[in-house]
This record gives sequence, structure tokens and C-alpha cells, in this order.
Amino acid sequence: MYHDFNYEATLASSIRAQWQLDDVLKADQELDFSRRLMPESLARTAAIETLNPFEQRVLNQISAHQYLTIFGIVEEFILPFLLDHARPHLLGDDWRVRAILNFASEEAKHIHLFKRFHQAFVRGFPVECQVIGPSEAIGAEILKHDPLAVGLVILMIEWMTQQHYLGSIRDDNDLDPLFRSLMKNHWMEEAQHAKLDTLIVDALGEGRSEEQIDKAIDEFFEIGAFLDEGLKAQAGFNLDALELAIGRKLENRDEILAQQHQAARWTYIGSGMVHERFKTTLESLSPRAAQRIAEAAPIFA
Ligand SMILES: [Fe+2]
Ligand SMILES: [Fe+2]
Repeated sequence: MYHDFNYEATLASSIRAQWQLDDVLKADQELDFSRRLMPESLARTAAIETLNPFEQRVLNQISAHQYLTIFGIVEEFILPFLLDHARPHLLGDDWRVRAILNFASEEAKHIHLFKRFHQAFVRGFPVECQVIGPSEAIGAEILKHDPLAVGLVILMIEWMTQQHYLGSIRDDNDLDPLFRSLMKNHWMEEAQHAKLDTLIVDALGEGRSEEQIDKAIDEFFEIGAFLDEGLKAQAGFNLDALELAIGRKLENRDEILAQQHQAARWTYIGSGMVHERFKTTLESLSPRAAQRIAEAAPIFA
């Protein structure tokens, strides 16, 4: 076996790592909009020379709004996927069922957490930021695919939050402490989810022929392309909000759009694709699958 994860031990460490919503953000707590919210390694707004420092910070905050809404969308399709996966095992290994139901319950809590942060954002930010959606339609489109492909997308997402947390510690001198705490607390629980999702992916891949795995990887790429299209549309909404907030049109809008779309590709796809643990699961599933995904990764860097 390429890992030593099991349902019983992961459930125990999940329970130890658990937090409550109020530990991270109380319902009436306010974000500090005099600071950046997102780590620069993800938002990449300081690299845009045609924006002044104030405008860079505003776009960084809009990128944080994107983070809250994209994760809201993602958590919403993870939840039904988990319940579908738990159901066939109700009469089997009870550690598996308990661990997966706890995983699902934590994701439902994360939906609340991202919503709570979103409400705080809306209270403190001067203009309205539009969001792609509706989330139910996005989730339904993703869940139409082979469960192995969906499981791999979710595994990639679980591991990527580790990269996001590390990015936020590196920038810790002037990030809003509440947003940094969001990254940290989310990562703490996601680190356990990633182990469980590894077990789920192992189970879904078991007994599949190379051809069937290849087909699932095709579908993994279909989901990736669908998400990428959404990220591009979201980058456009983000620039609309920026223009509204700073009261001027961007003369090099296309250039900034491409740069911000690329930042989102790294944040929501690439940073998971290149995670060592994700790559190890792919290797164990099929070296060819690992190679196909490694070849695509530079597009999302
Ligand atoms: Fe989550
Ligand atoms: Fe998760």
C-alpha cells in the first residue's frame, strides 16, 4: 500500500481537529478591509503594474470574495458525492460509514463558514461582486460524470487547501488575521478529508481496467475544462467589480483578465494537480493516468 490511511484512525484525528463556526468567525465579526485578505501567492495582484497599491489591494479583496464563493460551490457538490458513496456501505464497515458521514458533516459546516465570511465581506465591501452560478447547476453538471473522475477532482481540491494555507502563512505580516484563520481552520479539517478521499478513490478505482481508468481521466479533464470556463467568466465579473470600486475603466483589461484567470487556474486547479500526495494516488491508480495529468499541469501553473 502506498499510504497508511484508514477510516478509524482518520475519524479519530478528525474529531480531535474539529472546531466550531464561532471559533473562526462570529456572526457579527468584521473583516479588516485596510489589509489584504488573500495570500499574494494565490491572488497575484501585486504583479499588476498598471494598478496602484490601493487598487491592487481592492482586487486582492475581490479575489478573496471569489475564494469564498468558489469554495461554497465546491463544498456543495462534495456533500452529495459523499452521501452517495456512504449509502452502499451502510451495512458494512461501520468505521467507513461514520468517517464518511463525519466528513460530510464537516463539509456542510464549511458551507456555513464560507457563507458567514461571505456575509461579512458583503457588509464591508463598497460594491456588489457578481458570482458565476447557480451553484446547483454547476454541481449537477460535475456530478453527471464517472464517480472516479469526480472523486479525483475532490481529492485534488482537498490537497490544494494545504498549499493555500502555506501561502497564507508566508504572507502573514499584513494579511487580515480572520481570513488567515479561515485558511488555517479549513486546511486542518481538509487534511483529514484528503485521507478519506484517498480511500474513496482507491475503492472506486479497484478492479478497473486500464481502458476504464483512461476513460475516467478523460472525464477528469472534462470537469477541469468546465471549471476552467467558470473561472474565466468569474475573472470577468471580478474586473467588473474592480472597475466599479475604483471608479475607472481598465485600459489593459484583456491583459489583466488573462493574468487573473491564470492566478485562479493555479489556485483552484493547478495547486492541487501538482500536490505530491495527489500524484502518489494517481501513480497507484495508473502510471499512465499520473503521466497524463502531469503533462497538463503546466497549463494551470
Ligand atoms: Fe471543506
Ligand atoms: Fe473537504
